[in-house]
Amino acid sequence: MNTDFAALRRQFPVLSRKTYLNSGSYCALADSVRAAFEAYLEDRLLVGANWDMWVMKNEAVRALVAQLLHAATDEIAVTASVSAGLNALATAIDFSGPRNKVVISDFEFPTNAQIWYAQQPRGAQVVRVPRDRDGYIPAQHFASHIDERTALVAVTHVCFRNGAKLDIPGIVRLAHAHGVPVLLDCYQAVGSFDIDVRALDVDFAAGGMLKYLLGTAGIGFLYARGSLVPGLLPTHTGWFAQEDIAAMDITGNHPARTARRFEAGTPPVVNCYASEAGLQLLLQVGAPAIGARVQALTRLCMQGLAEIGWHSVTPLPDERRGATVAIPSPRVSQLNAELARRDIVTSFRDHNLRASFHFYNNEDDVRVLLAALRELRGAYAPGT
Ligand SMILES: Cc1ncc(COP(=O)(O)O)c(C=O)c1O
Repeated sequence: MNTDFAALRRQFPVLSRKTYLNSGSYCALADSVRAAFEAYLEDRLLVGANWDMWVMKNEAVRALVAQLLHAATDEIAVTASVSAGLNALATAIDFSGPRNKVVISDFEFPTNAQIWYAQQPRGAQVVRVPRDRDGYIPAQHFASHIDERTALVAVTHVCFRNGAKLDIPGIVRLAHAHGVPVLLDCYQAVGSFDIDVRALDVDFAAGGMLKYLLGTAGIGFLYARGSLVPGLLPTHTGWFAQEDIAAMDITGNHPARTARRFEAGTPPVVNCYASEAGLQLLLQVGAPAIGARVQALTRLCMQGLAEIGWHSVTPLPDERRGATVAIPSPRVSQLNAELARRDIVTSFRDHNLRASFHFYNNEDDVRVLLAALRELRGAYAPGT
């Protein structure tokens, strides 16, 4: 494990020029990830169609994602996006019988809502668990929505709008008591703290590489619990989802026995190169150490905000918070632009500025943000 955070920070050139607090949208680019993109170009120039290398890179990503999630390699599909994995999974679920309900929450990213609504013509009924007045959704709120008619509980780990982290073990216990599988959308979480799919006992998990996994856009993963895979036959498929990719069979559909059956066509090769490098770096640091550091930085940021009287809407308890601190403002897009002018990179959703932290951030980043917000408070804080 390498937890020399000062040295690690130097591997991300943007951090010497910007206060980069936007890993919840897109991570900072590491030297090794840039080198991986260049290696791809080099391989193309020298070898051209490098079939063996393509397959190797795809398999390398699969193995690294399995290691990261504490899963088996056969339980991982490498997909083009979260949407691709969820769509493949959705086609394998039968909504025509008595179990046709999909339970989601108010905290979902659109992907994990729209795809389930899209199953309505196939018989699905979508139920959304609302947030409390205080902006959180305790696990117990799911209890009255999960029953013998539920086919799936599909929930986000961390909310992309306010950084709230759901009580996944609590939700899983409620779902499993009714024999209902749970899909975890962990895109806003994976890489920012340790996710152990076995300890969480989730049945499916989906995420992608462009945020905390240090990779790039156009590549993601779907974890499917090994014992469930044989019973799920996606109708969204392709030649890379077949048991024998090289068979070139045009007489039938023979899905892989593993989670690879949720893949489709030619893998996103260049994205595999970049993501392999990103995952290797992340695993060198280690997700538990990253989780502790991110938690300390977000806590420091929230305490500082309280001191300047500009309270975050992100839950304060450590176990209810991910890597994003959401800061309310009635003029949030102007606030975001004002910070960008000061070389502070953030993003915004709804009426909240989002400052998201990774292991390459440090206490100085928090101080720079707080100093800017102190100055801008008069023009941009709520009630101004
Ligand atoms: C929680 C969450 N789920 C899903 C997505 C999008 O997934 P994709 O574009 O890979 O389908 C995002 C993107 O920001 C996200 O934050």
